[in-house]
Amino acid sequence: MSASEGPQGPGRPSRTAAVIPAAGRGVRLGPGAPKALRTLRGIPMLVHAVRAMAGSRAVSLVVVVAPPDGAAEVRHLLDEYPLPRDTEVLVVPGGGTRQESVRLGLAALPDDVTTVLVHDAARPLVPVDTVDAVVAAVRDGAPAVVPALPLADTVKQVEPRTGERAGEPEPVVATPERALLRAVQTPQGFDRATLAEAHAKVAVAGEGATDDAGMVERLGVEVVVVPGHEEAFKVTRPLDLVLAEAVLARRRVTDGFA
Ligand code: CTP
Ligand code: MG
Repeated sequence: MSASEGPQGPGRPSRTAAVIPAAGRGVRLGPGAPKALRTLRGIPMLVHAVRAMAGSRAVSLVVVVAPPDGAAEVRHLLDEYPLPRDTEVLVVPGGGTRQESVRLGLAALPDDVTTVLVHDAARPLVPVDTVDAVVAAVRDGAPAVVPALPLADTVKQVEPRTGERAGEPEPVVATPERALLRAVQTPQGFDRATLAEAHAKVAVAGEGATDDAGMVERLGVEVVVVPGHEEAFKVTRPLDLVLAEAVLARRRVTDGFA
């Protein structure tokens, strides 16, 4: 199958799009603007993330999922930052959970999109080689691909103490073998029809799914892992901002970039 022939077969147009959920508040980052609009080296995190997707030659469309009441503001913001090459950018309003935001982003995709990347705005520094590796694995036939890294820390499963017992020591239930675990990142790449089916069929209670590949797993479809990158870390807590600024400063020194 050539790059121009999607899973739908020869002769049909095939396009790769990236959906960027950026509708979260960033509660764990502390007070301030919505997380995706906070700046790194003076540039909004969302702009870094859009550039990271647009930097992959495969990606010709980026769908940004903005805070529910902030689509117009995000549209204006993105228009201030030209992209390195011809990439179409759509902005749609998001929802109350990440899962809902991704679903709304998928609904905005045109028919000719056959491969979809889902990428957190909160991972602004993912290198283009990681994006390309995910796209290549999907184009080679994997219906769902996630970049991931081995863990540094050992992980324990606990019985959480909540409500009146919050703050009490939590009993350990199990210690999974660390060598068998991976910490997953984004962009996660999918055959579009598979991801759409997951979002249509898989209901996730409470906060919703934090991981699209997990929803595809529930369909019984195989998900594969490719190597992630340490610079694809998620900006979640204040210390992550310090790390992100340091990565950009290093890039400036080593590549004369950013
Ligand atoms: N996200 C979204 N819509 C939501 C919630 C989250 O589009 N209703 C997006 C975030 O903008 C982020 C990505 O999902 O790019 C990963 O979520 P996370 O890191 O948890 O970001 P926030 O939900 O914003 O942060 P927090 O959980 O600390 O509030
Ligand atoms: Mg969140």
